[in-house]
Amino acid sequence: MSIDPNDLPIREDLKGVAEYGAPMLDVAVQINTNENPSPPAEELVAEISELVAQAATTLNRYPDRDAIELRTALAEYITQQSAIPGQLIEVDNVWVANGSNEVLQQLLQVFGGAGRLALGFEPTYSMHKIISRGTQTDYLSITRDGNYGIPIEEAVSEIRSKRPAVVFVCSPNNPTGTSTPLEDIATIYDAIVETDTGVLIVDEAYVEFSHQDSAVTLLPKRPRLIVSRTMSKAFAYAGARIGYCVADPAVIEVIKRVRLPYHLSAVTQAVGIAALRHVEAQLRAVEELKVQRDRIFEAARVSGFQPVPSDANFVLIEGFEDPSSAWQTLLDQGILVRDVGLPGCLRVTAGTIEETSAFVDALAKLAPTN
Ligand SMILES: Cc1ncc(COP(=O)(O)O)c(C=O)c1O
Repeated sequence: MSIDPNDLPIREDLKGVAEYGAPMLDVAVQINTNENPSPPAEELVAEISELVAQAATTLNRYPDRDAIELRTALAEYITQQSAIPGQLIEVDNVWVANGSNEVLQQLLQVFGGAGRLALGFEPTYSMHKIISRGTQTDYLSITRDGNYGIPIEEAVSEIRSKRPAVVFVCSPNNPTGTSTPLEDIATIYDAIVETDTGVLIVDEAYVEFSHQDSAVTLLPKRPRLIVSRTMSKAFAYAGARIGYCVADPAVIEVIKRVRLPYHLSAVTQAVGIAALRHVEAQLRAVEELKVQRDRIFEAARVSGFQPVPSDANFVLIEGFEDPSSAWQTLLDQGILVRDVGLPGCLRVTAGTIEETSAFVDALAKLAPTN
């Protein structure tokens, strides 16, 4: 017994809207949501257990509202990973929340809202539009060029005329794997500052897999640049729900005006701190995943598809005559990939060696040349 949800007195703009929905199916080879295929290493699991046990003894109290220890450890990691000459990333440059989706939502609560506009470059991460809608921010998209790059002249001209409050650049971009050169990010930033209305959010969920430097290196003297990152991918921590952003301390201060008090549990904070004690091992695992990503690219190319060069942990493969039937054929063999709704395309996440082999073998049988 249930009524139609649209008959509830909800906001008009939410009527008939579908929820975010990547299929969650329990099959052998799950390479559809860009997760890291390997569970956390044994040493890390032991460290998590120890720190969570300590946190357990404090659960009668609210956690550190500002997550200082975790943010300090993240600041150290970011400084090591994206060295900016003469400049440290400090704790007050970093904010952390339950996944980068929550960070993005907090940013939209601060900088977006009714009567304000967000601009994105499609195809891109679908949650940018969904979070914009959830915060009643209008969303305008510019179509990427034939190589899935951002058409910079068009972007600058739209920023000047539409004066968006938020511009999203996803780099490396999901679902295409394409990075936006740092010079282009700087050009977009300059256009935003010129109009004096907005901020630039660079979503770097996949940056550890990229050939190019992080946009964090652009932060000095750019107070309206916000770089959003996650532990879900490179750190194999999708289940931990830890995302963060790096920005001028003023940005971190204004986020605190909208975040819920004690938003990040003591358990989550402990789990995050544990991972940052094992960075080296984690980044070695990233190198292995890049090998699997490149195998997928090469195998797709050899089979006659058109894979898109990727800076992330997945590959967008073009050239399927009927992507939904190819998706089903793969699923029938226990292989779950993602139909992202782009004509002729499927997106495939780098898995373990065995998972990648299973996909590559199945793909060869779907080859357009067969
Ligand atoms: C580009 C991009 N940004 C953000 C996220 C969200 O990550 P999180 O798990 O940190 O919420 C994803 C997840 O797939 C993503 O692809």
